[in-house]
Amino acid sequence: MGDLRDHWEGVYSARAETAVSWYQRHSNQSLAYVTATAGKASYVIDIGGGASTLVDDLLERGYANVAVLDISDAALAKAKARLGGRASRVTWIVADITRWRPPRLYGVWHDRAVFHFLTRTEDQDAYITALRAGTERGAAVIVATFALDGPEQCSGLPVQRYSPETLAKRLGAPFVLADQANETHTTPWGTEQRFSYAVFRRDC
Ligand SMILES: C[S@@+](CC[C@H](N)C(=O)[O-])C[C@H]1O[C@@H](n2cnc3c(N)ncnc32)[C@H](O)[C@@H]1O
Repeated sequence: MGDLRDHWEGVYSARAETAVSWYQRHSNQSLAYVTATAGKASYVIDIGGGASTLVDDLLERGYANVAVLDISDAALAKAKARLGGRASRVTWIVADITRWRPPRLYGVWHDRAVFHFLTRTEDQDAYITALRAGTERGAAVIVATFALDGPEQCSGLPVQRYSPETLAKRLGAPFVLADQANETHTTPWGTEQRFSYAVFRRDC
C-alpha cells in the first residue's frame, strides 16, 4: 500500500482540492443516482471519495449514515476541514480498498474514478471481494469510470476504461446493470474527459 498511498498523499498535499483534474463543484450525476436509489436512513459509502463534495451534498439532503473511504488521509482531511462541525456526522475510513474488510453492509456503494485505477486482475478481484462483503441485498452500486473513449491515464497512473456493459461483465453476479449515463467532465483547466456511469442492483 505504501507506494500508492504516498502517491495520493503527495497529490493531495501538493494541490488544492479545486485544482485536481477530477474536481467537481457538485457531483450532480452521482447525487442524482444516490438520491434516486436510496432513502435518507440508508448506509451510504463513497469509495475513494477523497475530498469530493458529494458528502456535503448528502448531509445537506439529510442522509444520516454516510461513510467516506480513501487511501489518502490528506484527502479526507481536506473534506473534514471544509465540513467543519458537520464532519463529526460522517464515518471516515483511511484504507486501501483492495485490502479493506467492510465492518458492515451498505445500501449504497458509490465510486467515482477509483475502480478504473485497478489495472491488475488481482486488485480488481480484491475490490470485488470487498464489494460483495460490504453490500446488502438490493443495494445500489454506482460506479463511474473513464469511458471507452476517455483518457488512458489520470494523475500519472494508467487506468482501465469501461462501458457499462464491460463493467457489468467484470463485476459479475449478483450485480445487475440497472441504469447508465455518459458524462463529459471538464477539468479545472478546460480539458474534456468522458466518463461512464453505471448503476447496479445487487439482486441476492
Ligand atoms: C480521481 S480521484 C477521485 C476522487 C473522488 N471520488 C471524486 O470523484 O472527486 C481517485 C481517488 O481514489 C483514491 N484511491 C486511489 N486508489 C485507492 C485505493 N486503492 N483505495 C482507496 N482509495 C483509493 C485517491 O486517493 C483519490 O482520492
